Amino acid sequence: MSSLGVRLLLAANRILPQPALPGQVDPFAYAQWEYDTSGPVVRLWHRAGTGGVRSALDLGCGLGGKTHRLVEACDQPVAWTALDIALDHVRKAEAYHQRVGLTGRERGVAKLVGDVASLPVADASFDRIVTADTLEHFPQPRLALQEMRRCLRDDGRLILLFNPWGSPRGSHLGDLIRLPWCQLLFSRQTLQQATLAAGERRAAAQPDPQEAAATNAFAKSLVDHFVHHVHPTRVAQFRQWLKDDRTFEIESELHVGPGPLRDASFLRQRWAEEWLTASYGAVLRPAAR
Ligand SMILES: C[S@@+](CC[C@H](N)C(=O)[O-])C[C@H]1O[C@@H](n2cnc3c(N)ncnc32)[C@H](O)[C@@H]1O
Repeated sequence: MSSLGVRLLLAANRILPQPALPGQVDPFAYAQWEYDTSGPVVRLWHRAGTGGVRSALDLGCGLGGKTHRLVEACDQPVAWTALDIALDHVRKAEAYHQRVGLTGRERGVAKLVGDVASLPVADASFDRIVTADTLEHFPQPRLALQEMRRCLRDDGRLILLFNPWGSPRGSHLGDLIRLPWCQLLFSRQTLQQATLAAGERRAAAQPDPQEAAATNAFAKSLVDHFVHHVHPTRVAQFRQWLKDDRTFEIESELHVGPGPLRDASFLRQRWAEEWLTASYGAVLRPAAR
């Protein structure tokens, strides 16, 4: 018998609309989704200024969709590197970049496998580091910020975006759990059980056994991701880390709201940013030492 919490979450799934998330899709379609959702990172890229930018790193590049969009946003040749801890992601990003023509000296993107905790690059290697939807996945975010500072030139800029833990989809379980803010309302165990149960329900409605097995596997991978790779990260805490560690100073901020609240100006207010911002972004300059 499932708990009351699991039943409530499954009931909410029946009532609420499915959020626009990629779910189970092939790698190229996923990279395309990353590309299609690049608006905020491109806005920050331009805000940081592009004069004199010759080298840039997309850190935690995923399947390479945002790197593609960023290369397109450059109006002068920039030597791009895309790095991820997952070899599989780097391989898929490379295949996607080949497909969309990011090849050769002008448009090619170098690939690296590496951990943000210890980046395999020399000090002051880049004019820009972009890291989108990653900070909340790093087990040691403060160390990550220090390491990014090391790899950035003194006049460089870090462009960073993350989903605050208190945001409506902060659980990263939205593909199978539709209730916004579920991570604030239910225990981690209930969320895990509900995600698996929602996967089973969806699979039960799929006549093709292979498709059903893929759905159950997807639900398990979502739970695994939630347990091991989603760390509660708040905007206020992020600002405090910058102050305490003197890594970066905030030059500019961006608050992207969910759905119709996308550009709502009240999201910048302290009372709203932690709970209503779907994606928080910033342009950061190295702090004076
Ligand atoms: C949610 S995806 C974001 C992908 C892409 N930046 C985007 O916004 O479309 C997070 C990525 O960060 C990578 N990642 C997680 N931990 C990492 C680490 N310690 N070092 C480098 N990359 C990491 C993951 O493998 C994953 O590809």
